[in-house]
Amino acid sequence: MSREKGNQVRVLGIETSCDETGIAIYSQRDGLMAHRVHSQIDVHAHYGGVVPELASRDHVRYLRPLVDETVAASGLDLVDIDAVAYTTGPGLLGALLVGATFGKALAFSLDRPALGIHHMEGHLLAPLMETPDLQIPFVALLVSGGHSQLILVRGIGDYQLLGTTLDDAAGEAFDKTAKLLELGYPGGPKIAALADHGDATRFRFARPMTDRPGCDFSFSGLKTQVLTEARRLVKTNQLDEQAKADLAASFQQAVVDTLVIKCERAVAETGARALVMSGGVSANRLLRQTLKSLETSGIQVAYPAPEFCTDNGAMIAFAGLMRLSHGQIDPTLAMTIRPRWPLSELPKVS
Ligand code: KG4
Ligand code: ZN
Repeated sequence: MSREKGNQVRVLGIETSCDETGIAIYSQRDGLMAHRVHSQIDVHAHYGGVVPELASRDHVRYLRPLVDETVAASGLDLVDIDAVAYTTGPGLLGALLVGATFGKALAFSLDRPALGIHHMEGHLLAPLMETPDLQIPFVALLVSGGHSQLILVRGIGDYQLLGTTLDDAAGEAFDKTAKLLELGYPGGPKIAALADHGDATRFRFARPMTDRPGCDFSFSGLKTQVLTEARRLVKTNQLDEQAKADLAASFQQAVVDTLVIKCERAVAETGARALVMSGGVSANRLLRQTLKSLETSGIQVAYPAPEFCTDNGAMIAFAGLMRLSHGQIDPTLAMTIRPRWPLSELPKVS
């Protein structure tokens, strides 16, 4: 396939902010042309969490082969790419540096524009890949390993923070709870799998902050409640496999109830007619089902397919395309990364 035949914009997306190397090509006309994700779970599992230096090295190892594989899978050549979008932040410094250096250098060598993308904007806009007719403004629930936020989206880059976590993020709560139950890493999918065999009504954990006004979250107390209950069960020799599954199911139910209550509140307070969810935790089946049930009250509910909820290159390529189509490129050769980067500091596009 050649550039002339297509005559359209195609963006290569590179995601390396944490423990997944994600590459994708997103086309303005044809949508997602190809994508590949290399997960580092095996690298970090032994340590019970992400080891930053190992993450960077693994990105170095897999980035180039994955780009070649993705380009080949799309049926294009590298020269058919019109722009390169890479994750600038937030994330792990070394891991971000790998993707940013490669992305900037590739764009320069191809004489194409480069765009630095905010990882959370990638998650935020990901639901639009499959639901382009989303009603704006919409409320977005961003739930990942590092973030739990409710945001009012009025346009690209026009984001109002409605609520955030005061301590642990939802994914972090899943990961820490899984660790204390000795389920391994990453915790979210492990808890969810175990919860399938558990009784969510056996333990009554709090729905934190739902009795207070506002859209903020707090999840660290929940993990402590699970720990206290687990210790009590150990003392009485009752922490068997079923009890663990019941703890996992009751914990998952408490997190899901809390998130859904806050989503309903955010929608009611803003008058938005649509709700989207994204970030790793939005791959959770119970959360997806429960949130979808809000459609009965007339709200449009959308979220990406599970593979695009966790970190991936497609969301970066898509966000890149959105910004590129509004003329936003980074004209300098300087390569910037921002391990800490509030979403509110992003430029709006008109
Ligand atoms: O967005 P993401 O892939 O990486 C970050 O940017 O943080 O999110 C990873 C988080 C982890 O905390 C992981 O445990 C959680 O998403 N997660 C889940 C599920 N799948 C991933 N949490 C609950 N249920 C799941 N099925
Ligand atoms: Zn993420």
